[in-house]
Amino acid sequence: MPRPRVFVARAIPQVALDMLAAECEVTVWPDRLPPPADELRKRVAGCDGLVSILTDKVDAALLDAAPTLKVVSNFAVGVNNVDLAACTARKIPVGNTPGVLTDATADIAVTLLLAAARRLCESGTDAKEGRWITWEPTGWLGCDLVGRTLGIVGMGRIGFATAKRLHHGWGMKVLYTARTPKPDADTELNAERVELNELLGRSDFVSVHADLNPTTKGMFGAEQFAKMKRTAVFVNTARGPHVDQVALAHALRTGTIFAAGLDVTDPEPLPSSHELFSLPNCVIAPHIASATTDTRNAMARLCAANLLAGVKGERLPHCVNPEVYEN
Ligand code: DGY
Repeated sequence: MPRPRVFVARAIPQVALDMLAAECEVTVWPDRLPPPADELRKRVAGCDGLVSILTDKVDAALLDAAPTLKVVSNFAVGVNNVDLAACTARKIPVGNTPGVLTDATADIAVTLLLAAARRLCESGTDAKEGRWITWEPTGWLGCDLVGRTLGIVGMGRIGFATAKRLHHGWGMKVLYTARTPKPDADTELNAERVELNELLGRSDFVSVHADLNPTTKGMFGAEQFAKMKRTAVFVNTARGPHVDQVALAHALRTGTIFAAGLDVTDPEPLPSSHELFSLPNCVIAPHIASATTDTRNAMARLCAANLLAGVKGERLPHCVNPEVYEN
């Protein structure tokens, strides 16, 4: 029996490459940048499995170029880079890596919230560039966290972990939006499920954790920022396209809101000339929420387990389109 052929679209942690190499013929894209679309199509042609990264577009054109493909294993929990309908139509299961990056991502949400609230990057830059001339009673004043209200937009695993840290650590009152009630949040965090507009009006901190889909794309625009408190801090660790960045830059520049902390932008990378980088009250990290050694290794193991199950025709441990298994 020939071994399954697998294309891995970027160097992922070695633990996963070892798992794959034990059972498959593996080719890894060697560059730091993603394969261009036409190159990806060529590489996937004739393969049984694809490990994609969130920067790789997995669309109908790619799938049509790979008629033998049995599985797409995305090295991420988010799958907005994958055309799920196109995969499902071809009965190709798509795997993702839920759970294992929850804590690392919640840690970054809290880090950004604190950094933005306490003006850490702005004051650090001022210090480094010679603008720290003395201890000033009214210098670099930020916002307190204790006892304030946190609005979680999308109370999934990561939203819950973020709320847990801020409720138990800083005594924050938690509001949230979600399609369905979340009894764990209500009992463990004494949280209150509300409509988005109410959340925006009542929260001191707004943290975005919703999936990116056609209904959440662009959900934060001028209207939403105008509903937030002028002292509010906005945090996004979900996906950049949730936010109208022109509106966000305007809100930050005009004091409509106090500050923002972003781990995700649109596009990624955000050009260094982008206005958001020039605003002292905007803290931007380069999509590092899951970037710890243990978390990326755990994602790699899940990703390899999904891939191996898929090439053997077994059910993926974490499948985002389980309807492929229905007759
Ligand atoms: C994911 O897995 O979706 C994250 O954005 C990567 O950190």
